[in-house]
Amino acid sequence: MPSTRDSDAVDLADLARHHFTPVLGRYFERSWSHGDGHRLYDTAGKAYLDFANGIAVSALGHRHPAVTAAIHDQVDRLMVPTGAIGYSEPPVALAAELAKTFPEPLDTVMFLNSGSEAIEAALKLARRVTGRPGIIAFRGGFHGRTFGATSVTTSNINYRTGYEPLLPGVYFAPFPAAYPEFAGDGQAASDACLAILRSLLETVIAPASVAAMLIEPVQGEGGYYPAPAEFLQALRAICHEHGILLIADEVQTGFGRTGRMWAFEHAGIVPDVVCLAKAIANGLPLSAIVSSRALQERWGRGAHGSTFGGNPVACAAGLAVLRTIREQRLVENAAARGEELTAGLERIMAEDDRIGDIRGPGLMVGTEFVIDRTSGRPDGATSEALLARCADEGLLVLSCGLAHQVVRWIPPLDVTPAEILEGLEIFADALAGLGHPGEGGP
Ligand SMILES: Cc1ncc(COP(=O)(O)O)c(C=O)c1O
Repeated sequence: MPSTRDSDAVDLADLARHHFTPVLGRYFERSWSHGDGHRLYDTAGKAYLDFANGIAVSALGHRHPAVTAAIHDQVDRLMVPTGAIGYSEPPVALAAELAKTFPEPLDTVMFLNSGSEAIEAALKLARRVTGRPGIIAFRGGFHGRTFGATSVTTSNINYRTGYEPLLPGVYFAPFPAAYPEFAGDGQAASDACLAILRSLLETVIAPASVAAMLIEPVQGEGGYYPAPAEFLQALRAICHEHGILLIADEVQTGFGRTGRMWAFEHAGIVPDVVCLAKAIANGLPLSAIVSSRALQERWGRGAHGSTFGGNPVACAAGLAVLRTIREQRLVENAAARGEELTAGLERIMAEDDRIGDIRGPGLMVGTEFVIDRTSGRPDGATSEALLARCADEGLLVLSCGLAHQVVRWIPPLDVTPAEILEGLEIFADALAGLGHPGEGGP
């Protein structure tokens, strides 16, 4: 394990207060030294069970030996992206390996650098290829911070305020969140939201003017709401009928996170374009869009590009990530450990009415806190206090949702049953330690 460096001994938070941008939001005012396996270490040497993973980025944990070795090897060979001058092995090999994980006809990959850039690329592709202006996105979605991605993001008004006018031609339909409005009934949520979507297409924008519909199969930042399978199937059918491209934002859900390699598989559909990032290189900046070859051929040579996209070092890491997921059967592990996590949380919920809902497939699990179960009114104060207490006790989990009312669990894909139990125990103890409102808890 690496030792704490001398420079770690300086007060990073204090230095940051003077010279580091104040714009970035963060969950904790803690200073980090290094990661090792599933533990993150602060500069004082304290270990934390990391079930946050840089928001679903280090899906294989920290310093994964296969990923680290691949990076070292590639740094010694070639670091510079070669996209503009020809081919190098890591991006081409990673494109081929990624394509194997997708159903037909999704066989062609363009690499970029971030989730937002993948969204930009998908939106540009959709407009250019269809010759149509309209984009339909779903309320509560988070797709990133660049202008195009911001234009389709509605998870928080702070992400949009002051940036108008945003991209024109964007329309929003409701996302079929089954809780609290539909008491967990996915079919009812789906029916209600489809009715509004159909009305949008009848009264606001004609289907023939819509280039794409963009959806997260499980809404991430917005609150860990899975889209019911029937909703995704209906979207697929509507898009098919009208020549609209269906874009799946799998930036957070991809790479086995939901117990399937790609979350759209739960619904048995095949999108036209899939956006990937986060876990793709276990921490190095890399993203991609995947579509059929025919679609990208219609997009046209030179229609889009990126200097850094497909950096060979990031792609070498990506190859090691894919190989590890396959060889260690980590998609299966995510499904099995996810069931244990959900069952454990359900046991805690049975004893604690501050939790209103537990949801999400695989290792993408949200625990929603409510003022009371009858109204389902969100209780961000409890989940925020819980996050802080869990961190004090050595467990990193994050929140999501408009009121930060959902504690989100994003353990590494190779998490063990013992670590799931450990996380649950810390969570339960921290929750008990908060005390109920009116109990005069600590
Ligand atoms: C679903 C989803 N899409 C897009 C993005 C944007 O990715 P990035 O921050 O890499 O630009 C995120 C980031 O959290 C995300 O969760």
